[in-house]
Amino acid sequence: MSLNSSAHLRLVHPPQLDDDARWAAVERRDAAVDGAFWSCVKTTGVYCLPSCSGRPKRENVIFVSTRAEAEAAGFRPCKRCRPERFVSGALQDRIEEIDWTRAHDALNAQGWAPLGRLLSDEDCSALIAGYEEDARYRSTVIMRRHGFGEGEYRYFTDPAPDLVSTLRARLYEKLAPVANEWRMTLKQKRDAYPAKLSAYRKRCAMAGQKRPTPLILKYGPGDYNRLHQDLYGGEVFPLQVAIVLSQPGRDFFGGEFVMTEQAPRRQSRAMVAPLEKGSAIAFAVNERPVECAHGTYRVKMRHGVSEIRDGARYCLGVIFHDAL
Ligand SMILES: [Fe+2]
Ligand SMILES: [Zn+2]
Repeated sequence: MSLNSSAHLRLVHPPQLDDDARWAAVERRDAAVDGAFWSCVKTTGVYCLPSCSGRPKRENVIFVSTRAEAEAAGFRPCKRCRPERFVSGALQDRIEEIDWTRAHDALNAQGWAPLGRLLSDEDCSALIAGYEEDARYRSTVIMRRHGFGEGEYRYFTDPAPDLVSTLRARLYEKLAPVANEWRMTLKQKRDAYPAKLSAYRKRCAMAGQKRPTPLILKYGPGDYNRLHQDLYGGEVFPLQVAIVLSQPGRDFFGGEFVMTEQAPRRQSRAMVAPLEKGSAIAFAVNERPVECAHGTYRVKMRHGVSEIRDGARYCLGVIFHDAL
């Protein structure tokens, strides 16, 4: 499977343009340099792709090289050109471009963090098409048989396709510092999570957890996934990632990603994460620490999917611990 659509390949090494060249590209609405820089419009407070149909004045525009810079400066994505949906370059670079400081803050504050768009339409289509290729998977689970809900999912065999392996390895490296922070805060006895997924998978194997856990879930009309935790043995990495491969409101209706958290002596709180096709969310697998005036307490998280009212919803799940 290719990581990039050919239309995006030229941006693996984005051209270095000075501000005059950038402005000239904005004036001709040049889609060929989309992703190479972003224009922030001071008067409207939005940031845009060079190809945006908007017509800002030169004196109101400042240029930045990454979306994270635009967002950090307080600019919102333009509703016309939807710069937050744009994907280009190598998957590794897209993962590097995520504002990880903000993601870490969100994970600590609420137990989940939107990571923005990581997969292109082509990536999503390739994963969906691959769902029917039996050789890619080690097992298929019909959820009703286990009381998990309605729908089915398939675990990738080892090694998973490049795109899935790259996502798992790179996202692990970004999330391991949070996992270690939580381990310390929760005073867990387990060893520190190593910096690399390969080392962590060796530890899983020592604990008997040798089967890979990345999976694709497929839901049709009336399907749903009960609130649960993806635990596969004593070895647990406390965060996981989900990427929806279908567009809500077009490919499917309903099918919201729901999380609950249960604090000691409290009723559960429900949270619904907004998802767009190709966009990723990181969230707590089971427990996370919450700091309060009296110290730290732990809350239990669960996640699930509300009923799909119509259409088909595919989702890629990236779990970092392996299974027994
Ligand atoms: Fe799950
Ligand atoms: Zn725009």
